Amino acid sequence: MQDLHFEVIKNQHLLGSLWLLRVRSFGTAELVRGGHFFMIEVSGTYDPMGRRAFAVGDVRGDELWFFYDVVGRGTALLSELKVGEGIRAFGPLGKRLFSHEGDRHLLIGGGVGLAGLTLFAKELRDLGKEVHIIYGGRRAEHLGMLDWLKEEGFYFRVCTEDGSAGEKGLVTDLLTDYDPSWTVSACGPKGMLKALTRKLEGYRLQLSLEERMACGWGVCLGCVVRSRTRGFMRVCWEGPVFDAKEVAL
Ligand SMILES: Cc1cc2nc3c(=O)[nH]c(=O)nc-3n(C[C@H](O)[C@H](O)[C@H](O)COP(=O)(O)OP(=O)(O)OC[C@H]3O[C@@H](n4cnc5c(N)ncnc54)[C@H](O)[C@@H]3O)c2cc1C
Ligand code: FES
Repeated sequence: MQDLHFEVIKNQHLLGSLWLLRVRSFGTAELVRGGHFFMIEVSGTYDPMGRRAFAVGDVRGDELWFFYDVVGRGTALLSELKVGEGIRAFGPLGKRLFSHEGDRHLLIGGGVGLAGLTLFAKELRDLGKEVHIIYGGRRAEHLGMLDWLKEEGFYFRVCTEDGSAGEKGLVTDLLTDYDPSWTVSACGPKGMLKALTRKLEGYRLQLSLEERMACGWGVCLGCVVRSRTRGFMRVCWEGPVFDAKEVAL
């Protein structure tokens, strides 16, 4: 991992609060694996302080793609970046990434959390594994990555809480076709991850966590989660991917 300079190739609004930032990585893209993230500088000043963490949603040649929701000042500033501008980013970060073990993989993304799984989905496909994806959100406008899923040709099912897209309900309502021979990987809101952990006891379940982060490299302890066996773990340093059995959400 290192402090890098990227160049903005495209910064595009997709749907609702979701944007896609595409950057030229000047050779870093080939190092990036599913589960990796970068700490991106959103402002050249102290307003707001610190960098923001974003999963790499896709790699295309030398390009890195970041799907991001505009939720606060940092991401609002990110959305103002123009083509040709430079940005600083630290990474790729994440020591423990997804395991590819198992022949059949179910990937479950809640809202923009799907961006934490998309590169992993491509890796699995390249390895010849069977990949199913469940993509859930509160409303249709929270499913801005549907076009990416369609373009990539993955088998996927969609659900929304209000039924405005796909099936009406929660991702946990769509699990009946999957027995414990499937390896399940999930990324999204903590409530969703908790519900999956309860419902999928006995499954191989890996969770990519997105705790708030300040430093991204193990120093500030801002991102700790409780381990079921050994005190606390830093998501940025010991993760971001954990076996559901080892983390107490
Ligand atoms: C490893 C990792 C990967 C991530 N990948 C992505 C990604 O691919 N796309 C994406 O859109 N976001 C991702 N996030 C979340 C992203 O970092 C935050 O949304 C971003 O930092 C918000 O910055 P802001 O200045 O706009 O919001 P702030 O002003 O800092 O916060 C605005 C609101 O968002 C909430 N918030 C901020 N950070 C988080 C968080 N991590 N989890 C839940 N709520 C939060 C705050 O509590 C507040 O309510 C990731 C986070 C981590 C740790
Ligand atoms: S973000 Fe600082 S220790 Fe993880």
